[in-house]
Amino acid sequence: MAASTEKFSSAMLEILRASSNVAVLTGAGISAESGVPTFRQAQTGLWSQFDPLQLATPQAFQNDPKLVWDWYAWRRKLISESLPNSGHHALADLENYFPEFTLITQNVDGFHQLAGSKAVIELHGNIFRTKCSQENRLITDPPQTTGTPPRCPHCGELLRPDVVWFGESLPAEALNNAMRAVNACQVFISIGTSTLVEPAASLPFIALNNGATVVEINPQTTLLTPMASYSVRGKAAEVLPKLAVEVLR
Ligand code: OAD
Repeated sequence: MAASTEKFSSAMLEILRASSNVAVLTGAGISAESGVPTFRQAQTGLWSQFDPLQLATPQAFQNDPKLVWDWYAWRRKLISESLPNSGHHALADLENYFPEFTLITQNVDGFHQLAGSKAVIELHGNIFRTKCSQENRLITDPPQTTGTPPRCPHCGELLRPDVVWFGESLPAEALNNAMRAVNACQVFISIGTSTLVEPAASLPFIALNNGATVVEINPQTTLLTPMASYSVRGKAAEVLPKLAVEVLR
């Protein structure tokens, strides 16, 4: 069932208000109105301008660590010059309403935590964390240089951003916690994700199979849209504050 931004389905609002356990999955779309580009949108998406195979795989880092390090430094700068938007803040408000509320994000920008969300599961890491490319040990306060990545103070190998690259497994604890939340939720809300990258893309479908009500918030249709219990077509920064007002009223 599709709804415009202006008017939510009253049945959807009733289900949401009555539910005690909500899981949310966010993707790059929620940060779009903060000025952080998404990945797959034509023209503006990062993957329409850059080749992920040259920038976001272990092989890419091995081939040209400087290129990869500099690209992530550029993205860190862009994110650190931006702020969470009203969509992130509305989710932080909603977290306080529900007895159980888990926010699962594919984003690496840390905006949910900045906006005040507490139970955040980062499936793809965090661009502001740095780890050793050999031992995966997190390194605090690494030199924020550009050019050749700094070396691990423990083993001397190159440091890399603590993000998940194509071909890598997700952090096991984050994925387990996400699965637990998806299996327990009564309502699952998918926001600003193309629902294309596994395993995150499967989460709303697992929730659906479990009998949860699945709500999608996205200006575009995705593979999830025809299956979703409710589809709200609109931008996260516009839809979520209105949804929070309706739920919290
Ligand atoms: P995508 O770029 O694939 O999809 C972004 C989604 O956001 C699209 O469905 C857009 O329609 C939607 N969108 C755009 N503007 C929006 C807005 N203002 N409000 C709400 N939605 C909006 O990004 P993701 O689905 O997050 O992985 O991509 C998943 C993963 O692919 C990323 O985490 C990243 C990428 O490769 C890794 O880096 C491992």
